[in-house]
Amino acid sequence: MTNLFDTFTIKSVTLRNRIGVSPMCQYVSNDGVASDWHLVHLGSRAIGGAGLIIAEATAVEPRGRISPRDAGLWADKHVEPLSRITNFVKEHGAVPGIQLAHAGRKGSASRPWEGDHSLKDEEGGWETVAPSALAFGEKLWRIPKEMNHQDIKDVQDAFVAATKRAIEAGYKWLELHAAHGYLCHSFYSPISNKRTDEYGGSFENRIRFTVETFERMKAVWPENLPLAVRLSCSDWVEGGWTIEETIELSKKLKKVGADMIDCSSGFGSPDHKKYPFGPGWQVHFSEAIRNQVGIATAAVGLITDPGQANEIIAEGKADIVLLARQMLKDPYWPQHAAKTLNHDLKSIVPSPYLRWI
Ligand SMILES: Cc1cc2nc3c(=O)[nH]c(=O)nc-3n(C[C@H](O)[C@H](O)[C@H](O)COP(=O)(O)O)c2cc1C
Repeated sequence: MTNLFDTFTIKSVTLRNRIGVSPMCQYVSNDGVASDWHLVHLGSRAIGGAGLIIAEATAVEPRGRISPRDAGLWADKHVEPLSRITNFVKEHGAVPGIQLAHAGRKGSASRPWEGDHSLKDEEGGWETVAPSALAFGEKLWRIPKEMNHQDIKDVQDAFVAATKRAIEAGYKWLELHAAHGYLCHSFYSPISNKRTDEYGGSFENRIRFTVETFERMKAVWPENLPLAVRLSCSDWVEGGWTIEETIELSKKLKKVGADMIDCSSGFGSPDHKKYPFGPGWQVHFSEAIRNQVGIATAAVGLITDPGQANEIIAEGKADIVLLARQMLKDPYWPQHAAKTLNHDLKSIVPSPYLRWI
């Protein structure tokens, strides 16, 4: 039986265990540039023993940022500070990953601790783009520009350029952020996509933007390295995107070379207050996709307990687990989990600490 501390190999990459740090926006970059904060934030979680560290949603162009302080990879100047981080993460036994993102209609917003609302132009806001000229709603009142075919091509070009920079920065794992109401999700969800051209309407048309973007990234990403996609597996909204559609999209992504589906959900409309949050609340999506599509999956969402995480892996509900908030509370969670599960600490505790803990 596979357990949480077994290695996981995908393409030429081997994770030392099945524990990953889920991507988490920090909103402290200046003009997209990573700082010492990111080195310590991500580096300490590598020291803590995680197998995979996925850096936060990183914007492929400035208008694709959620807030003015998001991380970015739209310019060459972003590469070197990220290389410093990937080197450190590798040196401490973890695999450095990054999530490339475009916020779409959820862009041009203040940071969570500053209200999470649309910014006016005079507050430093900018024109956002989306499949249709529909605001997200509530505090995100900004109406995006409906993308024309040139806009679609420009954004896909930006994903390709950022993918090339991610290679240069030393990343060994790449994830396309296609969840949480951001640009890709807003194309495949019928809630936010009201287009009548080949990018809207039918299922095939709504998934086109995500599949095309993935294919274009895949064409430049090294064949021997994993390329994953994070999906919102359900909108949790009547008339919205469903798990059945996610399974069909996952089959399509598998066919065009996706190595893993990272199974999240929701956040495509302000209805998230109604979600059934609870321990492991999204694991059933991962289980369904893994078993019905035959593709590797990551489970995420209120996975906090070592026994719970081990069970998800042992029962074949996911290939890896990703932890977000629990990793903020405890960067050493993998070390603590190893102790709880009686796993040998040698593979995950750095030498300067090992003798003393
Ligand atoms: C501070 C913070 C920032 C986040 N930023 C991102 C992000 O950049 N990309 C993303 O896909 N999800 C993001 N998320 C969602 C997490 O990756 C994760 O899916 C979610 O928090 C559920 O996992 P948890 O219950 O372990 O926290 C963020 C979550 C938090 C708490």
